[in-house]
Amino acid sequence: MKVAIGCDHGGINLKPALIDYLEKKGIEYIDFGCYGKDSVDYNEYALAVSESVAKKECDLGILICGTGIGMSIVANKVKGIRCGHCHDVFSARMTREHNDANVLAFGERVIGVGLMLDIVEAFLTTPFSNGDRHVNRVNKIQALEDKNFK
Ligand code: RB5
Repeated sequence: MKVAIGCDHGGINLKPALIDYLEKKGIEYIDFGCYGKDSVDYNEYALAVSESVAKKECDLGILICGTGIGMSIVANKVKGIRCGHCHDVFSARMTREHNDANVLAFGERVIGVGLMLDIVEAFLTTPFSNGDRHVNRVNKIQALEDKNFK
């Protein structure tokens, strides 16, 4: 599995713990930045991660900003991306199981390192349930995208 990760200045303090987790688990990743505390626009990092997942260079993406909100809004504008904005383990599990989310977003100003790692673990290890009703709903999301984003 290869994971695309990205943050803005609002998520820069949590990213080292995420990288440490991925390295300890032997999970390959591409870090799309940012790399410092200077104020940047979350848009470009969310876009870089989402495009990497959409073109299947990476399997899943993880985005960190102050709240996770801006990142998730941008990610969900990219065709083929289903970004779950999650600050609890249950939601992170369910967004994989029911929504087949391929990007996760959360906020450094909302959660701490311990909860972040549990959320990431749930997101990376939970498979899509593949039940008929969930497949049908994800297909409907894709059909909507096809109609609205040519
Ligand atoms: C940056 O101050 C902050 O607005 C950003 O990290 C994020 O929370 C936006 O949704």
